[in-house]
Amino acid sequence: MKIQQPALARPPGPKLGFLGGFRTFRRDALGFLLQTARRYGDVAWFRVGPYDLYLLSQPDHVRDVLVAGHHMVVKSRILQEARKILGDGLLTSEGETHKRNRRLLQPVFHHERTEAYGQVMAEYAARAAERWRDGQEVDLHAELMALTLAIVGKSLFGTDVEEADAHQVAESLGTMLGLYDRFFLPFAQYLERLPLPANRRFWRAKDSLDEVVFGLIRDRRSEGDRGDLLSMLLAARDGDEGYGGAMSDQQVRDEATTIFLAGHETTAIALTWAFYLLSQSPEVEERLRRELDEVLGDRIPAPADLQQLPYTRRVFSESLRLYPPAWTMGRTLIADLPVGGYAVPAGATALLSQYVIHHDPRWYPDPWRFDPDRWEPSAVAARPKYSFFPFGAGPRMCIGEDFAWMEGMLVLASIARRWRFRLVPGQRIGLSPRITLRPKYGMRMRVEQRR
Ligand code: HEM
Repeated sequence: MKIQQPALARPPGPKLGFLGGFRTFRRDALGFLLQTARRYGDVAWFRVGPYDLYLLSQPDHVRDVLVAGHHMVVKSRILQEARKILGDGLLTSEGETHKRNRRLLQPVFHHERTEAYGQVMAEYAARAAERWRDGQEVDLHAELMALTLAIVGKSLFGTDVEEADAHQVAESLGTMLGLYDRFFLPFAQYLERLPLPANRRFWRAKDSLDEVVFGLIRDRRSEGDRGDLLSMLLAARDGDEGYGGAMSDQQVRDEATTIFLAGHETTAIALTWAFYLLSQSPEVEERLRRELDEVLGDRIPAPADLQQLPYTRRVFSESLRLYPPAWTMGRTLIADLPVGGYAVPAGATALLSQYVIHHDPRWYPDPWRFDPDRWEPSAVAARPKYSFFPFGAGPRMCIGEDFAWMEGMLVLASIARRWRFRLVPGQRIGLSPRITLRPKYGMRMRVEQRR
């Protein structure tokens, strides 16, 4: 006899229509997610085209899905589509392949090694800041993208990432990410096979990126071990059955491209927003400057100084809260998962939005205010654990978190001790929530030397 399954209760949520959901997301994804959470509660359901989405907005839900439920979910379609750019690297792989990749890459991100990268970070930041002149106008977002790419290139790939190569990588990744949105259009799988100009630009950018990365791999194979990320990937051996021996050039390419992308864009964005927030808050700017003057004097900062810079850390934390570079994470369920009193069904996508949870007045009163004092240890201890998760959570949590904190604080300190920034007249501020939370109109700033 066939047993009738009880119907699962559906949480409340907005009705968007088949195409309406795509439009809503493209027009104002952040506003829509915020409003949905506020209006329908901590578990809300809606449809975008054929996709069933559950917006989960309690810190405990982050734990339920990303930590306790991690074996019942896979990355959502957005990240699976990123395979077209990143192949089977750490960010996009699943299951056993991911486990193996993570094991291979972990030593590169050990704390002691990250300390060594710190020297590169501070030096490069100081050098970039040397080039500015008092009163000059710069696109700070573009400047910081170039800086963080150079830091990742130098610290993880050794000396041979020439400026021209770094530029080519940045440009190709930028082109591909710019065109990436169309993978989410309805019928994308048909559109992407057509010889449209946008498709041709995408594949040309990919070829150009591959040329640089495969070039680096070729050079390194002939030069031997230099103790950097690329050498480690090439030397990696894995006795696991089914893999046998070394990684292929394609596997090394996928990991290297993943690190290039994941390792520079997010940090550059976090820093851009941090300097924007400082420019709007002279009081915080002044407290930061006092700390930097007291601790550093005329020196450029070193990793060992970071312990002495608690306010710098709070400024960076508060920026990551207000403008989390990874603003939403999606997971597709492979089995039903109980969350917040509902059963989120297999096949549906759970959305956990840093942007929504980080702006929730239950955890952050007056949530839009830039207030680094929220990061006093006693205030942090009073909040639920996953009310702040800019680096994700669970076994897929950012492998570069230590790297990012060190880089964020060292670059912030190196630059802020010498310069402050003011928006140029007419500069608009907007958010472009793509894979990361970019400033929509760039960030043109006037550079002012500290007296
Ligand atoms: C402020 C800077 C950064 C932020 C906000 C950030 C955020 C994140 C988040 C939220 C994830 C999890 C994605 C998911 O589970 O779907 C992630 C994963 C990852 N991040 Fe970062 N990240 C930052 C910097 C970095 C840096 C500097 C590197 C490398 C140098 C890096 C490399 C990676 C990699 C390889 C993964 C995939 C980890 C895995 O799946 O095992 N990230 N990052």
